[in-house]
Amino acid sequence: MEFLEEIRRRRTFGIISHPDAGKTTLTEKLLLYGGAIQEAGAVKSNKIKKGATSDFMEIERQRGISVATSVLAFNYQNIKINILDTPGHKDFAEDTFRTLTAVDSVIVVIDVAKGVEEQTEKLVDVCRMRKIPIIVFINKLDREGKDAFDLLDELEKKLGLRLSPLSFPIGMGYNFKGIYNIWKKNVNLFESSNKQKKTDAFNYLTLENHNLIKVVGKSMLDDLKESLELVQGVYPKFKQKDYLEGDLQPVFFGSALNNFGVQELLDCFIEIAPSPQPKIADNRLIHPEEKDFSGFVFKIHANMDPNHRDRLAFIKIVSGEFKRNTPYYHVRLKKNIKFSSPNAFFAEKKKIIDISYPGDIVGLHDTGNFIIGDTLTSGEQIQYKGIPRFSPEHFRFINNDDPMKAKQLNKGINQLMDEGVAQLFTLNLNGRKVIGTVGILQFEVIKYRLKHEYGAKCTFENLNVYKACWISVSNQESINYKEFLKVKKKFLAKDKIGQLIYLADSPFSLQMAEQKYPEIDFHFTSEF
Ligand code: G4P
Repeated sequence: MEFLEEIRRRRTFGIISHPDAGKTTLTEKLLLYGGAIQEAGAVKSNKIKKGATSDFMEIERQRGISVATSVLAFNYQNIKINILDTPGHKDFAEDTFRTLTAVDSVIVVIDVAKGVEEQTEKLVDVCRMRKIPIIVFINKLDREGKDAFDLLDELEKKLGLRLSPLSFPIGMGYNFKGIYNIWKKNVNLFESSNKQKKTDAFNYLTLENHNLIKVVGKSMLDDLKESLELVQGVYPKFKQKDYLEGDLQPVFFGSALNNFGVQELLDCFIEIAPSPQPKIADNRLIHPEEKDFSGFVFKIHANMDPNHRDRLAFIKIVSGEFKRNTPYYHVRLKKNIKFSSPNAFFAEKKKIIDISYPGDIVGLHDTGNFIIGDTLTSGEQIQYKGIPRFSPEHFRFINNDDPMKAKQLNKGINQLMDEGVAQLFTLNLNGRKVIGTVGILQFEVIKYRLKHEYGAKCTFENLNVYKACWISVSNQESINYKEFLKVKKKFLAKDKIGQLIYLADSPFSLQMAEQKYPEIDFHFTSEF
C-alpha cells in the first residue's frame, strides 16, 4: 500500500470520560465490532476508580496489563484504528493530558443519568483548547436518565460545546425503544441482546415504515417526530469541516453494555474522524505526508518486569515512515539511536514491526535515553511542543530512609520522574528534594515502586506550597530580578531540567510577589 494511503486510512483517538461512565465498556465493544476480540470482558482497561487507597494495589495489578492496553489497534473496514488508553482516575489526569497530545480526535462518553461530571469537564476543556475534534457518546440509555434535550443543554453550557445530534433516543430506561439515526435516517430498535457478543441483526427501519408504529406506539412515535423537528430547528446541521476544526461536536446515543448504538458510532467515526494531523514543532508545522520521519515520546512505562530493567517509550509518529534498525536522531541528546525491536500494538498483543506510519504508536525499548516530550527525527533539529508540565497540587519533601541505598533512591526518583509519575524540585538553598504530584495517591505509588523496583526506602514530609511557578524574566541583570532572587531565596528551586521555580506558599504571597516584582513573569506551566 502506498505511503499516502497508509496515512489516509489511519484514525488515532482517545476515549475520555469521568470514571464509570462506560469508557472501558465502549472500548471493548469497539474492539468487538472491529473483530479484534471475540468476547467482551477479554480486555481489562487500565482503570482505577474513585479515590480510595485500596485503589493503589489495583494500580500495581493494572500496571502489568496497562502496557497491553496503552494502545489498542485494529482494522475495521480497511481503516487502521489506534485507540489510546487514558486513565480516568483524577490523580492520573496528567497522564491523560499527555496522551491527548498524541490523539487526532476523541470520543467523550457521558453517563445519561449523571450528565457532565468533574473529570469530563477538565478533559473536554483541554480538548477544546487544543481544538481536538470531539464526538460525544451518551451512554446507558437502557437506564433512566436525564431528558435528552436537558442533557444536551447541560453539555453545551458546562462543556462549552456546540452540539449537532446525529442520533436521537426513542424513550429511555424501562421505556427505551431504540435510536433514530439522523446521520443515516433510519431507526434501530433496541432489544436487550447478548451483551458479550456482537449482534448482526439490525432492525433498520425508516420513520415511514408502518411496522414502526406497532413496535414503538403512536404516542412515542409522535414524540420522536416532534423531537426531530426540534433538533432540526435548534441545533446546527452537521458539517464535517466544523467538526474537524473543533467547532462542532456530533452526538450519539446508545448503550455500550448492550452493544447498542456502538456500530453506528463506529461507522460514522471512520467516515468523519480525522486521519493523522500535522503538528507544530518549534515554529514549523510538520505534515504527516513529509518524507522524513519525526515523532515524539508521550508516555514511558518502566520496570514491568523487576528482573529486567526494561522501559518502553511510546512514540507517536507524526511524519514519514519509521523503520526498524534505522538510526534516528534524538534531538535533546543530539545523538543517533537505532531500534532493533520496535513494538506495535494490536488489541491485547504487541509485536515487533519493521515499518510504521504517521498516526501509529510505536513502543521502543529504552535504557534511559528518553524522557516524556523527547523528539526523534530523521536528522532535523526540531522539538515538538505541547507536552507542558503543570504546577502540581501536592508537595512533599522526600527523605532517604536507608543511608546505604542513597544511590538506588536517586536512580529510582530520576527514573520515576522521567516516566512522568510526579515532578521533582530541588531547593536552591540546601539541595533538598521536593516531590510534587497531582493527587496524593502518587506518593504511595512512588514509595511502593521505589521499594519494590529499586530497593530504596523513603519517607515524605509535608511542605506547605500552594503552586510551583516557572519563572521568566527578560533582563536577568535587572535589580528587580536580583532582589527577587535574594528575598525569595528560601522558596526557589530547580525543576528536573534546571528551570527556575518559585514555590509560592499561598495565593497571597504569589500575588504579592507579582506586584513587587513586575519584571518577572510567573507561569503555572513549563511551556510559556
Ligand atoms: P469506565 O471505564 O468509564 O470507568 O466505566 P466502565 O466501562 O467500567 O463502566 C462502569 C459501569 O457501568 C460498569 O458496571 C458497566 O458495566 C456499566 N455500564 C457501561 N455501559 C453501560 C450501559 O450502557 N448500560 C448500563 N446499564 N450499564 C453500563 P460495574 O457494575 O461498575 O462493573 P462491571 O461489574 O459490570 O464490570
